[in-house]
Amino acid sequence: MQLSLTKALTLLVCTLLSSATVPTKTVKRADSSQFVTTQGSKFFVNGSEFPFIGTNAYWLQALNEEQDIINTFSNISALGIKVVRTWAFNDVTEIPETGTWFQLIANGTTSINNGTNGLQKLDMIIKHAESFGIYVLLTLTNNWSPSATDNLTASIDGLKSSVQSRAVVDTFNSSRPRNFLSNDYGGMDVYVRQFGLKTHDEFYTNQTLLNAFMNYTTQIVTRYVDSPAVLAWELANDARCNSSVAASPGCVAQNITQWHSTVAQHIKSLDPNHLVSSGTQGFLCTGCQKLFPRPTSPAQPSARAVAGRRSVAKPLTKERIIRERNEQWKRTRALLPKSQQESGEGIRVRGRWISTPTKRQSDSQGVGSAFDGSQGVDSEDILGIPEIGFGSFQLFPDQNSYGPDDPSLSAFNNTLQTGINWITTQGQIAQLFDKPVSLLGFGLVTQTNAPDFVPFNSTVAPFASDTSTAVSKASSTSSASSANSTQTFGVTDSEQDTAYSSWLDAGISSGVSGLIQYQWSQGNLTTQPDTAISPNNDTTGESSNSDTTGESPNDGYSIQGVGEDTVQSILQNAVQSVSST
Ligand SMILES: *[C@@H]1O[C@H](CO)[C@@H](O)[C@H](O)[C@H]1NC(C)=O
Ligand SMILES: *[C@@H]1O[C@H](CO)[C@@H](O)[C@H](O)[C@H]1NC(C)=O
Ligand SMILES: *[C@@H]1O[C@H](CO)[C@@H](O)[C@H](O)[C@H]1NC(C)=O
Ligand SMILES: *[C@@H]1O[C@H](CO)[C@@H](O)[C@H](O)[C@H]1NC(C)=O
Ligand SMILES: *[C@@H]1O[C@H](CO)[C@@H](O)[C@H](O)[C@H]1NC(C)=O
Ligand SMILES: *[C@@H]1O[C@H](CO)[C@@H](O)[C@H](O)[C@H]1NC(C)=O
Ligand SMILES: *[C@@H]1O[C@H](CO)[C@@H](O)[C@H](O)[C@H]1NC(C)=O
Ligand SMILES: *[C@@H]1O[C@H](CO)[C@@H](O)[C@H](O)[C@H]1NC(C)=O
Ligand SMILES: *[C@@H]1O[C@H](CO)[C@@H](O)[C@H](O)[C@H]1NC(C)=O
Ligand SMILES: *[C@@H]1O[C@H](CO)[C@@H](O)[C@H](O)[C@H]1NC(C)=O
Ligand SMILES: *[C@@H]1O[C@H](CO)[C@@H](O)[C@H](O)[C@H]1NC(C)=O
Ligand SMILES: *[C@@H]1O[C@H](CO)[C@@H](O)[C@H](O)[C@H]1NC(C)=O
Repeated sequence: MQLSLTKALTLLVCTLLSSATVPTKTVKRADSSQFVTTQGSKFFVNGSEFPFIGTNAYWLQALNEEQDIINTFSNISALGIKVVRTWAFNDVTEIPETGTWFQLIANGTTSINNGTNGLQKLDMIIKHAESFGIYVLLTLTNNWSPSATDNLTASIDGLKSSVQSRAVVDTFNSSRPRNFLSNDYGGMDVYVRQFGLKTHDEFYTNQTLLNAFMNYTTQIVTRYVDSPAVLAWELANDARCNSSVAASPGCVAQNITQWHSTVAQHIKSLDPNHLVSSGTQGFLCTGCQKLFPRPTSPAQPSARAVAGRRSVAKPLTKERIIRERNEQWKRTRALLPKSQQESGEGIRVRGRWISTPTKRQSDSQGVGSAFDGSQGVDSEDILGIPEIGFGSFQLFPDQNSYGPDDPSLSAFNNTLQTGINWITTQGQIAQLFDKPVSLLGFGLVTQTNAPDFVPFNSTVAPFASDTSTAVSKASSTSSASSANSTQTFGVTDSEQDTAYSSWLDAGISSGVSGLIQYQWSQGNLTTQPDTAISPNNDTTGESSNSDTTGESPNDGYSIQGVGEDTVQSILQNAVQSVSST
């Protein structure tokens, strides 16, 4: 069953890609820089092509002992994984008694912590990355840092729960220890609040905030300017107009593009060694005017090769997206058994099935929120910025829509297929700009992980069980009732495996040069009370750890402990497949 599903999907992907991909040859680069560079739509290091499979571990800096960092890198390396994406920021508004922090942002001033619980933690990460031959993708801030002063409405799959989240600094009454969640390391809204401003997008446009952020950036970038272990600087995780602090009505995608241009130029002026990338989720705006339009006559050799393939050279327009989707839905329909095709509302013309109603259903849905600018960011425009070395996107179907569902497919098959389409589209955009593109994070919440799942714009786990201390604490402070805990959420482990393998395959065959899974799980970690690795803080009660060892934080996407999950072997297979091409 699973084999046939994978086979059938491979067929679908092949059909999809036959018109979209370009056969590529391994290019040897004369410049054998030890820093990661790019040529055309490929990454290079040491003079050779460097296509990579990676994993996320935002919490590396929160580990309590150096040995924990070493063990984590050692376990990751053992699979052949060479890239780890992690946070290079940790903003607080008061100096915490325990745990790591990098920057105090309070009352309109900032200061750096360069102590052993400060930037020396990041030094340690870089040092061990170097010794393991691991490349770290360092993210400089986050779009998401919800606090108790924001009123959040989380809505997942039609399930609504109005919750008031905890304050980031409110360590002791919080449902999860500080730095447990990826959105609890500070970020843009900490600057906005502490500089007395009101809207999220003032982070991008207010000169004082821009200076404060560029000041932080300067300190981090100059600290590691000479380290070949830094893959690239990522400006921000998931930048966009809004957050849990709302956007001003005037915010448009161009404001976010402009910010990327300013900060990327600033970093490049300090650090010519490393690549700079955005960190956005890849959301597009086909109808937006561009500040950095794609060059009309591509100069690079690989782009000339691309130009021979008309479907690749064509810009991504609304019409093209809808046309290709209609063609795909038609193909899916054609693959259905005849009995099922005929129970639909299509018509048969000279013995061939014409799925007109499907086309109408498709057209009426437009391009969808991932393409129409409603996410408040235009990743295509950002990719046009000369200082942006490669494109980025993410894939989190539990939290975003990547296009309307094909009525012929089951819910899970739609998740799978829209994910494949998203990856393929991003590969095509990279080729249009003749730059590489990297999938920074992809994940699906499983039923096992559902109780731990916390959406990126929230601090509450909507599917946690009532018996969990952590969650009942959170619920008692919420203004409305939280989610029905008996509701099943998430895919099965085997569906997750199918999706991850299909997405990795789709990425590899559509020329996405870096594929980074979200997120790694590490066991046997040193615990310390009131840190992200607290004793006995496993909310699911499944942990095999004793009181003295802990597991890395889980926001719903963590793969289970070492050797306990097939995701590890899926990643390992992908590593083998990229290194053999
Ligand atoms: C993985 O980490 C554990 C500690 O969590 C360690 O005991 C083990 O040796 C590591 N495995 C590898 C392959 O490095
Ligand atoms: C910021 O100002 C408030 C109010 O004046 C004060 O209570 C707080 O201690 C200040 N924070 C820092 C870190 O100086
Ligand atoms: C820049 O950062 C340094 C170190 O954190 C701090 O002392 C200084 O006040 C900052 N300057 C500005 C303009 O924010
Ligand atoms: C930390 O920063 C301060 C102020 O810039 C400096 O005096 C001190 O030497 C630094 N300490 C370390 C360990 O880098
Ligand atoms: C590039 O060369 C350096 C120095 O020899 C080595 O440490 C690193 O692992 C190499 N990188 C890759 C991806 O092979
Ligand atoms: C959040 O909601 C509460 C209760 O409805 C209200 O009093 C408060 O003003 C709201 N806060 C913001 C920042 O909108
Ligand atoms: C930018 O932020 C600073 C610091 O809060 C504030 O004083 C200034 O008025 C803001 N500028 C604008 C144009 O809003
Ligand atoms: C946002 O972008 C628009 C369009 O480029 C521009 O007119 C506007 O001034 C920008 N807003 C700010 C606050 O910079
Ligand atoms: C949080 O994200 C969900 C989608 O995952 C969205 O429906 C909701 O409106 C978002 N809330 C805020 C405050 O951004
Ligand atoms: C999902 O897709 C596969 C391959 O196209 C197909 O074999 C399977 O029946 C579909 N599953 C459902 C539940 O529709
Ligand atoms: C913890 O370490 C022990 C002994 O080294 C090992 O058997 C076990 O698999 C490890 N557990 C995890 C979750 O890494
Ligand atoms: C979980 O962590 C919090 C914050 O560090 C701590 O207060 C709490 O006691 C921990 N829970 C358990 C069961 O130890």
